[in-house]
Amino acid sequence: MNLLRLARSIGRELREVVEEALESGDAAREVGIGADGTPTEAIDRLAEGLVLRRLREAGSFFVLSEEAGSVALAEEPEYIAVVDPIDGSYNALHRLPFYAFSVAFAPYREEASLADVVSGYVLNLYSGDEFAAERGRGARFNSTTLRVSKTKALKGATLCVYSTPGSIHRLLPLLRRIKRVRTLGSAALELCHVARGDFHAFVDVRTYLRNIDIAAAKLVLEEAGGVVTDVRGIPLDVSLLRIERLNIVAAHTGEIHGNIVKILRMTST
Ligand code: IPD
Ligand code: CA
Repeated sequence: MNLLRLARSIGRELREVVEEALESGDAAREVGIGADGTPTEAIDRLAEGLVLRRLREAGSFFVLSEEAGSVALAEEPEYIAVVDPIDGSYNALHRLPFYAFSVAFAPYREEASLADVVSGYVLNLYSGDEFAAERGRGARFNSTTLRVSKTKALKGATLCVYSTPGSIHRLLPLLRRIKRVRTLGSAALELCHVARGDFHAFVDVRTYLRNIDIAAAKLVLEEAGGVVTDVRGIPLDVSLLRIERLNIVAAHTGEIHGNIVKILRMTST
């Protein structure tokens, strides 16, 4: 099965449906609580329903998704699809042009983790820009190959950062050493823009981000030549079969990544 072709066709349809729903004015209505414990808005439910229907029609999938959680769509699934139907729902509802559809695929196995992802697709639902990657075959932004460029010194770097009031102290030594901060509200897209070099790293110390938010974009960044680990510099080894929370340092190059992890270690106690 051509998984990226499937992702693209679902993404294109989803883009139209989401746009229509946002125009309708009913998109923000709260309709329940999702599997991740956060409120589900009408737009999230609508988007997820469409993605689940299309995956069910296309093959044998086990799906991990934001609202529904873990769903086996077939008795003997061939693939796992890790789905965030709208990453950046707040942005979508406020018409801030930075929200995405994200889907990652891995062959089904009971111990599957992020390292098993073989293809990833992230679509900016506002602009229509696409990021896609296949393990071992590189990453693309629309029709251009993504390849990380020469390291920029940390003092000139632009970082996306996320913390809580309780964890902000962990970021302070880092914030003193960089040039700019941007926090745009769609982790999937922010990681893809790290791959493109628009940001030099993405650092989230909250341990609140979920595997569904980053499964696809992590592959995009790694296939472009970037490096992704937890804040201690250890590979992210989280399951693809249930929603799990994580912290992350994702950087455009190994050198920036190493420098950030070293600085974060200064406040790890
Ligand atoms: C959110 C975005 C955001 C991150 C949050 C996520 P959602 O996803 O990825 O960047 O900071 O932790 O929940 O909820 O809009 O799909
Ligand atoms: Ca998300």
